[in-house]
Amino acid sequence: MQRTVRKILRAVADYDPDYYDMYADNNEALFARLYLERIRRHAEAAGIDASAAVLEAGCQAGRLAIPLAKLGYRVTGIDTSGFALRRAREHAKEAGVSLELIQGDLIDLLHRHPEWRYDIVVCAEVLYLSPNYRAMLQAMASAVRPGGLLCASHRSKGYYVLEAIRQHDVGAAVTVLQTAEGPFRDSAYYNWQTEDELKALYRSLGLRWVAMWPIDCTAWLTGLNPSCLGREAQEQWLQLEMRLSPAEGGLCARYLLVIAEKPRADVIGGHPPLIRGDPREPEGS
Ligand SMILES: C[S@@+](CC[C@H](N)C(=O)[O-])C[C@H]1O[C@@H](n2cnc3c(N)ncnc32)[C@H](O)[C@@H]1O
Repeated sequence: MQRTVRKILRAVADYDPDYYDMYADNNEALFARLYLERIRRHAEAAGIDASAAVLEAGCQAGRLAIPLAKLGYRVTGIDTSGFALRRAREHAKEAGVSLELIQGDLIDLLHRHPEWRYDIVVCAEVLYLSPNYRAMLQAMASAVRPGGLLCASHRSKGYYVLEAIRQHDVGAAVTVLQTAEGPFRDSAYYNWQTEDELKALYRSLGLRWVAMWPIDCTAWLTGLNPSCLGREAQEQWLQLEMRLSPAEGGLCARYLLVIAEKPRADVIGGHPPLIRGDPREPEGS
């Protein structure tokens, strides 16, 4: 359906049959658990309690915001799309949780409200589509209170290299390897990073790197729809994904979830706490 027709349908009838509602999609709900479990564990390790204030930047229909609210967090969702926020509001109502939902551009809102502070800022599957991703990260870093966490996902360079090869487009794979942003086999804008590039980016924001987790190392690559598995196999698949370390899964992950901490003035130069399965955890501990 044409973009303009969809826009009119949304405005007039609050209806868009082609809208990809990530909350309502069964596969996306399973992928969400890979984010949520990592965020929950790191928040716990950082001493952030379950009633903390969380901002989800680019929350769309609430795929992460609603489960975060179910965990007890006070969740604010920001999105440019009023249609997405209306979906999020409906889903939240059905799920019996309340969300604060604000329509607007993330950078613009956070610049206009420098007093907004959150214990955790989450931004999943948003940054890789924006040429302004550095400014978005900077604005989000400013909104994290000292001792709080920024949890943001990025596209790995390895994902685009493998995707190009999977489509027998070796030229595109070579281009990805040599660049960090641009079009990828179509005219849209994307950006992608290696672990070292992400570490440098977060350092430049004054944040302390805590961990990086691969998100979906196996499903996209193999064409698996995890929601089509039986309940037991779904849980096994989730456990398998959770057990893949960045070294094992980083090259082929669809996304890389970075967990970074805003240093407290009193512990600059110190180290963030370890969580179980953290790549820095000493063996046998
Ligand atoms: C792919 S969806 C990700 C949804 C959600 N984070 C999740 O993981 O389920 C990207 C969303 O980010 C929103 N978005 C993109 N750029 C934004 C910006 N500058 N400010 C606020 N929202 C933005 C889009 O409108 C869209 O709903």
